[in-house]
Amino acid sequence: MTVEAAPNPPVRRLADWSAERLGDLADEYDTPLYVLDLDRVRQNYRRMAVEFPDADVYYAAKANTCRPVLETLADEGAGIECASAGELQRAIDAGVPGERVQYTAVNPPARDLDRAVEIADEHSITITAGAEDTVERLAERDYSGRLCVRVNPGVGAGHHEKVATGADAKFGVPIERVPELVADARENFDVVGLHAHAGSGISGEDLSAHRELVARMGDLAREVGDLEFLDIGGGFGVPYRPGEDPLDLVSVAEATREAVGDLSSATLTVEPGRYLVADAGVLLTAVNTVKDARDATVVGVGAGMTTLARPAIYGAHHEIRNLSRSGGQQTVTVAGPVCESADTFGDHELAAPERGDLLAIGNAGAYGYEMASQYNSRPRPASVVLARGEARLARRRETNADVTRLEQEDQR
Ligand code: LLP
Repeated sequence: MTVEAAPNPPVRRLADWSAERLGDLADEYDTPLYVLDLDRVRQNYRRMAVEFPDADVYYAAKANTCRPVLETLADEGAGIECASAGELQRAIDAGVPGERVQYTAVNPPARDLDRAVEIADEHSITITAGAEDTVERLAERDYSGRLCVRVNPGVGAGHHEKVATGADAKFGVPIERVPELVADARENFDVVGLHAHAGSGISGEDLSAHRELVARMGDLAREVGDLEFLDIGGGFGVPYRPGEDPLDLVSVAEATREAVGDLSSATLTVEPGRYLVADAGVLLTAVNTVKDARDATVVGVGAGMTTLARPAIYGAHHEIRNLSRSGGQQTVTVAGPVCESADTFGDHELAAPERGDLLAIGNAGAYGYEMASQYNSRPRPASVVLARGEARLARRRETNADVTRLEQEDQR
């Protein structure tokens, strides 16, 4: 008997979530509330593993560091790519084996580097250095372990200029200086890999920047030789708008294979963040105001730029759905509670909202909670995870006392 593979659609749209289930969660945990479906995270990982079979997947934890997410992906076999000592600690605490953990150091503060070296000595993680200075600072700390060099390949991409990193002078060692740096570093360290990250938002329409980056990195890997892995970063895009097609990973994988050429014994590594978690999450928020303004109907909600910062920072679009009613579509401006005009989720066609309605904001699993702040002394929301239909609280809602906790006299 053949076992049929479980359905694994390339994208989960906001319309696919059960309004009733989300309504129950809002009743139980209050709003604003992040909901993240771990089963969908697994599906996304598995699809990537199938469609990109020759790549070793490291999850870029910065997209969502919630412990159950790290545990789920580690359980699937993913490595974890960390951006700070705090993320490294989270990966180790989640039980991820050190050899599956990487730390990508970008202008690392001394405290991060000290802690990373400590963790590396105990757990044999890989530290990725993006500047000659970082390599020197590691040597000063008597580090002699696994080292990867982040390369600035001179080509970048991204959904917004603020997330295109590949050609940005801030990131990586200029490609022409890498062979010499690697030769020198081999005297003190175990140089295991090369790394580059083009930026966030690879789209299927134009793979040329991706191809170019991969080709340059493939050539460089052959030039320096003797590596365990070549890491071509993350940035695999997801459709934020309903009409947008999902990324065709099979084509990306094919383009990658063609461009990279023969890596002999080195493994190709990718570092997706958003692709694995974005469509696994929604943000629930309640309507508190419906106001007919001069040129628009403004729908005021409890979530704002302190809850989900992407629209305010990048002008990002997130779909919104009124879970409390259907039909009677109306164009409205959905805005948060912060006194800044950037605090808006933009214009949306919604079933005419009324005070008390529950809205769901889609694709909120990546860079949602992670970028939340306490601006305006607003406590950060709660996060709930779903696994096989069961819900559990992953991060409780902050209270006003949490917001002022660090200022208390006896704790200074
Ligand atoms: N690897 C490295 C070294 C990175 O810096 C990043 C993201 C990734 C992997 C994962 O990129 P992803 O696959 O998630 O696109 N806050 C922005 C995204 C910033 C990403 C920064 N680096 C946003 O909300 O769009």
